[in-house]
Amino acid sequence: MPYLIVALIFGYLLGSIPFGLLVTRAAGLGDVRKIGSGNIGATNVLRTGSKKLAALTLLLDALKGTAAVLIAGLYAPEAALVAGLGAFLGHLFPVWLGFKGGKGVATYLGVLIALAWQGALVFAVVWLLVAFLTRYSSLAALVAAVAVPVALYFLGLRDTATLFVLMSVIVFIKHHANISRLLAGTESRIGAKG
Ligand code: G3P
Repeated sequence: MPYLIVALIFGYLLGSIPFGLLVTRAAGLGDVRKIGSGNIGATNVLRTGSKKLAALTLLLDALKGTAAVLIAGLYAPEAALVAGLGAFLGHLFPVWLGFKGGKGVATYLGVLIALAWQGALVFAVVWLLVAFLTRYSSLAALVAAVAVPVALYFLGLRDTATLFVLMSVIVFIKHHANISRLLAGTESRIGAKG
């Protein structure tokens, strides 16, 4: 079992790299936590007005989840699952930012890409559909976070489905402010400046 603790810590450290904050700072745009929703994710980076930096943030936040799973998976399949969870938690609670991180959606997707590409496809289709219809990134993520564990269950990937039930519950908890804004009709739409 010690290797699972190593996998969790390894995933956590990779996941805790706050790419949204790093790329916006490097571009001279200041602290992304001071604009829009205050989140460090790609949706909020887009509120700086830079589509390129938002895309880069999405890519890097997803890649850290993918990398954690693939590297740990070289050792053992169960280490891959644990490292994926670690990367997701690292993004949410990064030690470098006083444990105040992001909402985990891109890293969730990155972990999913490495563990079950069919699940990632379901995520992408559902996210794009809801985002296209409503222009709400948060709502798209929440609907996708419901669809993914269901899809994984029907694909027969029981261990991965269990992991994603847990991660989806956490995604919902981290979106509590977005859910309140959606219900109040005050949620910011994709592309609106912060
Ligand atoms: O991926 C995060 C997204 O679901 C919501 O982001 O900045 O609108 O809270 P934000």
